[in-house]
Amino acid sequence: MALRDTPANRDELLQQLESARSHDVPWKSGRAFGYVFETGDDAQALGKTAYASFLTENGLDPTAFPSYPRLENDVIGWVLDQTRCPAEGVGIFTSGGTESILLAVKAAREAARAARPDLARFELVLPITAHAAFFKAAHYFDLDVVTTAVDPESFRADPGAIEAAITERTAMVVVSAPSFAHGVVDPVAEVAAVCRARGVWLHTDGCVGGWLLPYFRALGAKVPDYDFSVEGVQSMSVDLHKFAFCAKGASVVLFRTPALRRHAAFACGSWTGYSLVNFGVQSSKSEGPVASAWATLQAFGHQGYRAQVEGMHRAAERVRAAVRAHPDLRILGEPCMSLFAIASDTVNVFHLQDELRLRGWHTRSQLRRGPSPENVHVLLTPVNDRWVDAFINDLGEAVEAARALPPSELAAQLREMFANLDPANVSDDVIAGMMSSAGVSQGALPGRTAEVNQMMNALPTAIIERALVHYVDGTFRPARG
Ligand SMILES: Cc1ncc(COP(=O)(O)O)c(C=O)c1O
Repeated sequence: MALRDTPANRDELLQQLESARSHDVPWKSGRAFGYVFETGDDAQALGKTAYASFLTENGLDPTAFPSYPRLENDVIGWVLDQTRCPAEGVGIFTSGGTESILLAVKAAREAARAARPDLARFELVLPITAHAAFFKAAHYFDLDVVTTAVDPESFRADPGAIEAAITERTAMVVVSAPSFAHGVVDPVAEVAAVCRARGVWLHTDGCVGGWLLPYFRALGAKVPDYDFSVEGVQSMSVDLHKFAFCAKGASVVLFRTPALRRHAAFACGSWTGYSLVNFGVQSSKSEGPVASAWATLQAFGHQGYRAQVEGMHRAAERVRAAVRAHPDLRILGEPCMSLFAIASDTVNVFHLQDELRLRGWHTRSQLRRGPSPENVHVLLTPVNDRWVDAFINDLGEAVEAARALPPSELAAQLREMFANLDPANVSDDVIAGMMSSAGVSQGALPGRTAEVNQMMNALPTAIIERALVHYVDGTFRPARG
């Protein structure tokens, strides 16, 4: 649509904005898992007020806005305490898990370059369960990814495989606490021993669970050591906008020492403008996220988080018990928080996901990768607690409905076609045709997504990635008026 010529009426605009989100996932219902981490109580409401009140202040220049480093230093200090970092630890407040990860990887690459100036290229060693953001970081910073196998039962990283993958080019090894896909914590101490012996930087990705894991552990969840208490963990990422219930745009990346963090810094005195220096990717940035995180973390306090975790732990245990008791379903690995993956050997999980959606439940599906079969991902937050019984009931019904649905013929044809076809020889038109056969057009997905997911599950990785870009390219097309 074209920009209006005359200023618009305020109420009309707010109404239009409201209608713009009419097809969004109904996160307030408590029947959507993930995306939004709501507790629905006063602590979060205060965070939103703080966000709005600091929305306009600019974190670009700490000399103009000394409130920015003041609030950031408090927040970083709290997360360093939570992750048992020695006194000299430091951090960076970032816009999200991806920025935290980008900065950790960038720092490790600079450290590797400084230590081994004779080498031109460096590598990132990633268990296949490491988050996609590390693959993105490798892509941005021109590092080679070396993936390692995980245990086929526990889905935890394999320290032996990591040891075998380390070379003189390794800039960083990554472990998760926990992984997004399965919600399991890697054997961090064992991997750290390998990294120490080889002099390699180890990063613990605690983006999804790093803040709440200590409370889950206090309730009896089996959580191995994963933080700075493990000698050899050099950096850690912890998102506050996930399971610390802060508003989006809030994550931290922590470093064991200031010397390690210095590798993330960027300074520029080479141009005609102001001297630029910062640790983050962003330069001009709203102070809203850090002010909001500062207020939210304190409004909950340890007691508030403990109370939230008690409810989430109970809810997650009940759903997992119901899944384990169901003859057609199983939980992958031994998740220790409230996120986990449901797989089935008898029922098509993509149909299951559709059937859950028809009953009002919004889950995400995960494709088959290595030993991890295709599955439905569930991530419970406090707003989901009251719906546990209804979810368990509908899950049973959804399994029965999914059982009656046929497997995709398109997926079978594509699997056969790609068995003898080099992905490099596939044209953009073929990708577009495939997507349209599965019902995807102009960035819009069909009502039932099982066909699309089964198709994706049948494709080689390189083609999956091109199909994803095709989709996003169709989604972000301005309608010029
Ligand atoms: C373990 C883990 N790492 C990194 C990320 C990336 O975080 P973000 O989406 O905030 O960039 C996520 C997101 O879910 C995650 O679960």
